Amino acid sequence: MKISEPMARALLQRAEEARAAAYCPYSGFAVGAALLCGDGTVYGGCNIECASLSPGNCAERTAFFQAVAQGQRRFVAIAVTGGPAGQAPDSLCAPCGVCRQVMREFCGQDFEIVMTDGKELTVKTLAELLPMAFGPDNLK
Ligand code: THU
Repeated sequence: MKISEPMARALLQRAEEARAAAYCPYSGFAVGAALLCGDGTVYGGCNIECASLSPGNCAERTAFFQAVAQGQRRFVAIAVTGGPAGQAPDSLCAPCGVCRQVMREFCGQDFEIVMTDGKELTVKTLAELLPMAFGPDNLK
């Protein structure tokens, strides 16, 4: 694990705070993310749903797109927490495939994803979550 356990726990706390803004009237599943940048800045993100469903955005991509739009390009780790809205998450919420691909766009293979079941921390690298990925290198 590259980031320290206290840092991972602090990042999860930021993700939990970001989760409070989740807009999820259709699924009722609220997700928060907190993205740690190379300069130490943390960007929060939540899921945002839409009545026509497909335009919705995951918490992780909300955090990435906010950071990238502010000029950030170096990323260290992201914490993700999710579960039924209004309840404390009690099972692990791992990033969806689309979010993993966005991580691949901007992050190295050692980028860390911090998750929790409400008790234990689970930390995986992007290489573990998205092996044999297609990415920017393929289009050089
Ligand atoms: N969701 C996220 O925001 N991140 C994940 O890692 C998994 C799923 C959102 C999308 C949708 O708003 C809701 O959770 C149910 O799928």
